[in-house]
Amino acid sequence: MCGIIGYLGPRLAIPVLLEGLYAQEYRGYDSAGVATLEEGRLNVYKATGKIAELDKKINRQYGSATVGIGHTRWATHGKPSDINCHPHMDCHKHIALVHNGIIENYQELKGRLQQQGHRFLSDTDTEVLPHLLEESYQGDLLAAMQETCRQVKGFYAMLAICQSEPRRIVAARLDNPLIIGLGQGEYFFASDMAALIDYTREMIILQNGDIADVSDTGIVIYNQGQKVERSVKHIDWDKEAAKKGGYPHFMLKEIHEQPKVLAQTMNGRLKEDCQNIDLSELNLQKQDLEKVNQIAIVACGTAYHAGLIGKSIIEKLLRLPVMVELASEFIHKDPLIDERTLAIVISQSGETMDTLAALRVFRERGARVLAICNVVDSTIAREADQVFYTMAGPEIAVASTKAYSSQLMLLYMLTFHLAQILQRQNQQQLNAWFAAMYQLPQFAETLLAENEQTIQALAKTISSWEDAFFIGRGLDYAVAQEGALKLKEISYIHAEAYAAGELKHGTIALITDKVPVIALATQDSLLKMMVSNIVELKTRGAYVIALTKGNVPEVDQVVDAVIHLPETDELLTPVLSVIPLQLLAYYAALYRDCEIDQPRNLAKSVTVP
Ligand code: AGP
Repeated sequence: MCGIIGYLGPRLAIPVLLEGLYAQEYRGYDSAGVATLEEGRLNVYKATGKIAELDKKINRQYGSATVGIGHTRWATHGKPSDINCHPHMDCHKHIALVHNGIIENYQELKGRLQQQGHRFLSDTDTEVLPHLLEESYQGDLLAAMQETCRQVKGFYAMLAICQSEPRRIVAARLDNPLIIGLGQGEYFFASDMAALIDYTREMIILQNGDIADVSDTGIVIYNQGQKVERSVKHIDWDKEAAKKGGYPHFMLKEIHEQPKVLAQTMNGRLKEDCQNIDLSELNLQKQDLEKVNQIAIVACGTAYHAGLIGKSIIEKLLRLPVMVELASEFIHKDPLIDERTLAIVISQSGETMDTLAALRVFRERGARVLAICNVVDSTIAREADQVFYTMAGPEIAVASTKAYSSQLMLLYMLTFHLAQILQRQNQQQLNAWFAAMYQLPQFAETLLAENEQTIQALAKTISSWEDAFFIGRGLDYAVAQEGALKLKEISYIHAEAYAAGELKHGTIALITDKVPVIALATQDSLLKMMVSNIVELKTRGAYVIALTKGNVPEVDQVVDAVIHLPETDELLTPVLSVIPLQLLAYYAALYRDCEIDQPRNLAKSVTVP
C-alpha cells in the first residue's frame, strides 16, 4: 500500500523525504513523488517506477526547502503514471497533498467540484482532496482540512502543505496509519515507523479522526474539533521489526491485516444498509450474461483454491456449470471454451505466467475474461476485459493469506451480483447473505483475538510430526486444500487435503496412531457425515483437530482439540475457517525454525512457465 513521508525542521527536506521513501519501499509501489515549500513556492517532482527514477529527476537539486511531503503510490484507482502519482495539487497549485487510503465518495465529490469549475488532471480518488482544501481554504490550512475531512467517506492518512503557510504541515488520519516523529525542533511524518527510526524514536501515533497541526511552534492535535493530547511513545524496535509493524514476520502481519482487508474489499461495493452490491465497476450487462452457458475459473496455487470456492457458490446460486482448472493444466488441453464462456482468472500478483497463458487461451477462443487481481495495472489486469481488484495492499510474504481471503470476498460479491442481475435468488435471501458478509471483518477480528494462543499450542504439537491430513466436505474440502498448501509451503510438513467421504477408499490406510488430522466441519448440512468420518479416524488413533461453526457437542466430545468459528451462514464460513489454518501453518513453521516469509524453493510470483 502507499507510503507517506513528511518533514518540517531545519534540515534540507528532499534528502529526508527520499530516505523516508526508500525506507518504505518494501510496502510495494509503482510511482513516487515529493513536494517542497521553498520561499513560498511549491516545487513538485514525480516519477513512475522506482524511487531511483524520482531521485534521478531531482538530480541532487535539493534547493533550500526545509518543509516537504512525499509519497510512494500503490495504485488503487488510476493506473501508475506521472499524472496519477502523488502529491496532488489544487487548481492554482497553491496546495499539495499526499494520501494513503481510498476515498469512497470521490466520484460524487469530483462531480460537484467539476461543476464548480475545478479542473482535474488525474483519474485518482485522491485528487478530490486538494480541491476540497482549495474550496474551503480561507487562509487557515487546519480549518480547511477539518472541513475536508467532514466531507469525505473512506479511509485515509494524509499530509497537506500550502504556499501561503510555508512553515506548516497539516496531517489527518482515519483507519490508515500515520505517525509523527519528534526531533529537536523538527518533525517527521510517515506511514510506518521504519522510515523514522534513523531520525528519532520518540513518536506520536495519530488516532482515528486526529488532525495534527504542525509548525515550528509545535504540534496541536484535534479530534472532532476538540484539542486532544496524544502520548509520545519511545520506540525501541529495530528497522526490520518496524517494517513488519512489530510482527516478527510479514506473514503474521498479513494474517492479522485480514479483518481490515475484508472490510476494504467491501468499501464502496457493499453498502452499510446491506441492501445492494454495487459492482458497476465491472460493467456486466444482463443481456450479455444471459448468453453465458458456463463459467471457467483458472488460476494457480492459493488462487486456484479460491477458485474452488467460487465454483461451489456460483453453481449453488446461479445453477450454471463452473469449471475450475489449474492454469498449468488448462493451457495444454483443448478446452471446451467459446464466446458463451465467462472466464475468471484469479491472480494476486497479476504476473503468474501460467495464468496469463490461460487468459490468452480464453481470449483466443472468444471468451470474455474477468480478472481478480491485487496489483493494479499488472499484466493480467491489463489483458483482461474487466478487472476486479482485491485492494488487499501488497502481500510481501510468499505464502498468500490476505490475498486469498480477499479473493473469496470478491467471488462472493461477484456471485451475489450475478444472482441479482440474472434474478436467480430472491432479494430477501441475498440481503441476508449481504448482512452476514458485512459482519465478517469483525468476526475475523474476534477469531484472531480469541484463538491465536490455542492455535499456537496446537501448532507446537503438530510441528513434531512429518505428515498431516486436512479433511472436509463441500466448501470445507476446498478450504482444506488451502490449509494443506499453507502447512506444506512454510513448515515443510507433508500435508494432504482429502475429501472426508473419500478416506475409506484408500487413504484411511495411512491413518495410524497420532497422525494429525485437521477436520473442517463447518457445513451444517454435512455435519452428521463429518462426525462419522471423525469417529472413523479417532478409532484408528488419529490426533484430530476440528474446526466447527460455534459449539458442536457431538464433535467437541470426540476430537483432541477444537476451534470454534464465529457463527455465520455456512456459505460464508470459508472466509473465516482459513484463518486458523493460516495460523497453524505459521506457528508450526516457527517451531520448526523455518524461513517463514521466504520459504525455500518458492517465489512470490511465478513468472516462468
Ligand atoms: C500461495 O501461498 C503460493 N505462494 C502460490 O501458490 C500462489 O498462490 C500462486 O503462485 C499463484 O500466485 P498469483 O496469485 O500471484 O497468481
